[in-house]
Amino acid sequence: MPYTPELRELIKRVEKTRPARVEKKRAGVEFTPMSLQEREAILKYHPDFKEDGRTEILVGPNKGYRIAKEMVSLLHAKSRLDPDAVDLGQVDFETDVLVIGAGGAGSSAALLARENGARVLMATKLRIGDANTMMAEGGIQAATKTGKDSPYYHYLDAMGGGHFKNDPELVETLVVEAPKVMAWLEKLGAMFSKYEDGRLKAMHGGGTSRKRMHYAGDITGAEMMRTLRDEVKNHPDDIKILEFSPAVELILNEQGACAGAVLYNLETEEYFVVKAKATILATGGSGRLHIQDFMTTNHYGATGDGLILGYRAGVPLRFLHTVQYHPTGAVFPEQAEGLLITEKFRGAGANVLNIDGEQFVYEREPRDVESAAFIRECLERGKGVPTPTGKFGVWLDSPMIDVLKGEGTVRKEFPGKWILFHRYGIDITKEPMLVYPTLHYQNGGLEIDRRTGTVVPGLFAAGEVSGGIHGENRLMGNSLLDVVVFGRIAGCAAAEYAQSAPRDGALTLDHVRAYHKALEAGRIPAEGQVAPMLLPDYSNPEVRKKQLTTKYHGTLR
Ligand code: FUM
Repeated sequence: MPYTPELRELIKRVEKTRPARVEKKRAGVEFTPMSLQEREAILKYHPDFKEDGRTEILVGPNKGYRIAKEMVSLLHAKSRLDPDAVDLGQVDFETDVLVIGAGGAGSSAALLARENGARVLMATKLRIGDANTMMAEGGIQAATKTGKDSPYYHYLDAMGGGHFKNDPELVETLVVEAPKVMAWLEKLGAMFSKYEDGRLKAMHGGGTSRKRMHYAGDITGAEMMRTLRDEVKNHPDDIKILEFSPAVELILNEQGACAGAVLYNLETEEYFVVKAKATILATGGSGRLHIQDFMTTNHYGATGDGLILGYRAGVPLRFLHTVQYHPTGAVFPEQAEGLLITEKFRGAGANVLNIDGEQFVYEREPRDVESAAFIRECLERGKGVPTPTGKFGVWLDSPMIDVLKGEGTVRKEFPGKWILFHRYGIDITKEPMLVYPTLHYQNGGLEIDRRTGTVVPGLFAAGEVSGGIHGENRLMGNSLLDVVVFGRIAGCAAAEYAQSAPRDGALTLDHVRAYHKALEAGRIPAEGQVAPMLLPDYSNPEVRKKQLTTKYHGTLR
């Protein structure tokens, strides 16, 4: 649907202020970024700070920890399995390394486990590559350029973005491995955007002090996922893939080590027992939980399954008290609601504007700060742009990119978004986009060590399901990096562990029985809910509404 006459009228205000704003950019004069104090102060508008959005976990290793209600209600739910009804004596598949999840982290893990001599079974809820990695647009951070940048600056930026709460060891690994990961991806055939002389293009993202965001147009995740998926499929003898087969419970052995998982075949509705010497959880994020009713950028299967499986097996959670709302989710047209509008637009110079066409925030603040500023502008200052369906947004002035960088830049650098909006009759080289924060990333997750190991021997976790790398707020481009860096490490570590893993010990689901008992003892209401969720139920109008709303209500702390 093209812009309505009312919105076109409002766009005139953006056009009116554009020449002066472009002039300022050309002169290198930026809207003043916030001081640390201002950043901290504005965060009260961020949904994480809405106290009634959280509740206490009443069971398991993080008893007492307050996180999003939607996650807690899954942690308080019973297993989809009756542990007494599963025959673990009948093993359907046996492997060295079981990888659960087939996005960027799972695929990288499978490749490295194979390279280190393991037979790999990869089980995935949908198809290989159906994951948040595929949806990622803007880029991957890596300090590949010597001189002005180095892993040292990358480290400081990542720590600053995470409010200095990040696990320093994990961040060090992330930034030091980054240039190697870029070289590996290129060797596998990933085609990143380059200058004519072959140098990788790089730009800024929110919170970066150096230009180190490498990208493939605005479809970086898709290009990386294509590369990884092709490579996984190049090794059919060593990496077996089970699609439409989500894990519904981990299996432990009598010694308390992880020994595989129970899978559920979505097509045949059968359960399968997989025995594995080592298991890697790479199940991704949880945007489809629609925390605080927010729309999401996430993949259809992003329902936080790995958190539930790992937690029931005894792995603590970290940093789940913060979730990331990407500042620029589409709010118009309605069919595109929640979709990611990459931060790269702001990196390329597009201003963010209120209903009067005025700048109200520096466009490259860290994401939590930027989102909080949008919410304040719309809900407190009343300067949001009303949409035809009763929501609010702010303008992202994409046309100024062509003015600044030459005609054709938007079409060349943002082909994915140009095509999408063109289909709706909107030319983003001429008209700005309407945006509002959208649920994007699970900053925290399962606690891991430097080699992705968890407290459960034989159980590893990599990618969005893990927590600690990004502290309380991830910077753009550190997620595509994280999945490959830690996916690769998990593959190596799991293959190594599999070589020495004890092969005896009966398989059990006793941890699930114990979890059920704890729920019952605490009289924790499960409300008939079972977990993991596996897929969001959009046949329920209440759930469906969540992808189509930007409602933000309640009291601010
Ligand atoms: O804005 C983006 O392109 C998103 C990137 C990310 O989350 O890393």
